[in-house]
Amino acid sequence: MLLGLSGLDSPWDWAGFPRSLPKGCYRIEARLKPQEADAAALGWALGSYDFQNYKKPTNPKARLVWPIGACRDEVTALYEAICLVRDLVTTPASDLGPVELAFEARKLSRRHGAACKVTTGQALLKAGYPAIHAVGRGSSRAPRLIDISWGKTRHPLIAIVGKGVCFDSGGLDLKPSPAMKLMKKDMGGAAHALALAHLIMSARLPVRLRLLIPAVENMPGPDAMRPLDVLKTRAGLTVEVGNTDAEGRLILADGLTAAVEAKPDLLLDFATLTGAARSALGPDLPALFCNDDRLAQELLAASVREEDPLWRLPLWAGYDEMLKSSVADLNSAPDSPFAGAITAALFLKRFVPGDVAWAHLDLFAWNAKDRPGRPVGGEAMGLRAVFSFLKKRYKS
Ligand code: BES
Ligand code: ZN
Ligand code: ZN
Repeated sequence: MLLGLSGLDSPWDWAGFPRSLPKGCYRIEARLKPQEADAAALGWALGSYDFQNYKKPTNPKARLVWPIGACRDEVTALYEAICLVRDLVTTPASDLGPVELAFEARKLSRRHGAACKVTTGQALLKAGYPAIHAVGRGSSRAPRLIDISWGKTRHPLIAIVGKGVCFDSGGLDLKPSPAMKLMKKDMGGAAHALALAHLIMSARLPVRLRLLIPAVENMPGPDAMRPLDVLKTRAGLTVEVGNTDAEGRLILADGLTAAVEAKPDLLLDFATLTGAARSALGPDLPALFCNDDRLAQELLAASVREEDPLWRLPLWAGYDEMLKSSVADLNSAPDSPFAGAITAALFLKRFVPGDVAWAHLDLFAWNAKDRPGRPVGGEAMGLRAVFSFLKKRYKS
């Protein structure tokens, strides 16, 4: 029996118990509010999580009986979704390249009866994804676009795009060692997109889903894109490559263009896009950019409700001129040392028509330090908030 518990409506309030209590099976006798019951079940489960692909797991000692009032299906789906993000992000790039990411997408699609199409290598050029191809062609592991569709035609369309850079070496503008070290996690946006799709499909939300994941590896090599190369994009805009390390925005540009072709009711993208977002907000607080104030307010309200923080940064039009290029429509990486997260978001905005409600999450996808239930490694951020918002907006 646990005594004296109150105000425990964040999962993290519960996540320390599995590894701190004596071995045994526990039951919560207090009457919990539904949100607390869900938080208890999810937090306890996440406190028992271990990334166990390469070594023996350290088994948690204390187990929990499902708390009364917990919504088992939803908590289970949330747990699976968060574990999916953690496992995909933490898996080393040697075992998770574009092929394996596409495999994971296929597996998820099969589970939910979704359609999954993958366009690979040279076929990307024919299909009209020149920027995805340009970023990925420096690697021996061919780039691809993963395209998942699910749901009924009569329901509103949600398009989700995720940055799937399976390893970001920086390309010819090679990152220095300390900055390159964590770059297996640069497919964190793709992992969030897949996890959100899992939540939507598990809950059978009355929406139509389109999931687009450009999956590439950003590597130097004889065929790699060069600084100041000019690339074509699916949208027809030309882009001068200011820095080959600003690869995420290039692949997202083609992904976003494809996503808006069917005029979605809502467009979301997730990306480990800039170091600047981390300088501004630190590792735990994803930056939210949004072209629609009401949408932003609703997402922020959900982030408070779910104790899953998001922080809005502006699409400050005054900085748009930093994207000017003397030879192309756009420069991908301004020389300016200022406002890097904003200029990256403004770059993406060029590929999103003003009448499509769009939210862009620039996130870290990684726990920089160990906390109960949040071990160092891949982490889902903003996922519960966004799903909570979607349930509210679309539940029939
Ligand atoms: N994947 C990185 C961004 C990143 C770095 C995210 C560190 C999380 C932690 C991205 O592709 C990148 O390298 N961005 C550059 C852009 C610059 C060259 C304009 C950056 O943020 O420094
Ligand atoms: Zn980069
Ligand atoms: Zn990157």
